Amino acid sequence: MQVDATVQKAFEMACNAQKNAHAPYSNFKVGAAVKIKNSDKIYPGSNVENASYGATVCAERVAIWSSVAIEGKPEFESIVIVTDTDPAIGPCALCLQVFAEFCEPDFEIYLANPKGIQQKVLFKDLLPAPFSYIPDTPDSLK
Ligand code: THU
Repeated sequence: MQVDATVQKAFEMACNAQKNAHAPYSNFKVGAAVKIKNSDKIYPGSNVENASYGATVCAERVAIWSSVAIEGKPEFESIVIVTDTDPAIGPCALCLQVFAEFCEPDFEIYLANPKGIQQKVLFKDLLPAPFSYIPDTPDSLK
């Protein structure tokens, strides 16, 4: 599909990140690139697996956590996710819940494979009711 130049740039960064994925256990390489709102900044991520399988982290979360380390509390505009599947597939539920921490319902999720971007979906359509909780401040911290 046709996308604007910034999303195209994010697609290229996600393709590069996919090549760097560390996926010796699943052989399923994923690349992602998240774009910050009102900014040209884009942060890539790839899935990083571990011999202790549960320690594996998805490409989307690597991208998001990296952006948090640099930006503080970023607001996201869009993410491009690249896998080798056709049709291209979307993010797992854990990653959707992590998106919820930083994005609005209209956050754009582009599903792609190395041939190109196949589909755009909105965050609110994949996770209409994210978990959200702001605890009261404990007395000891008041
Ligand atoms: N994976 C991602 O990177 N993103 C997703 O949204 C789903 C799955 C990774 C995790 C694991 O390394 C491999 O794909 C197979 O599940």
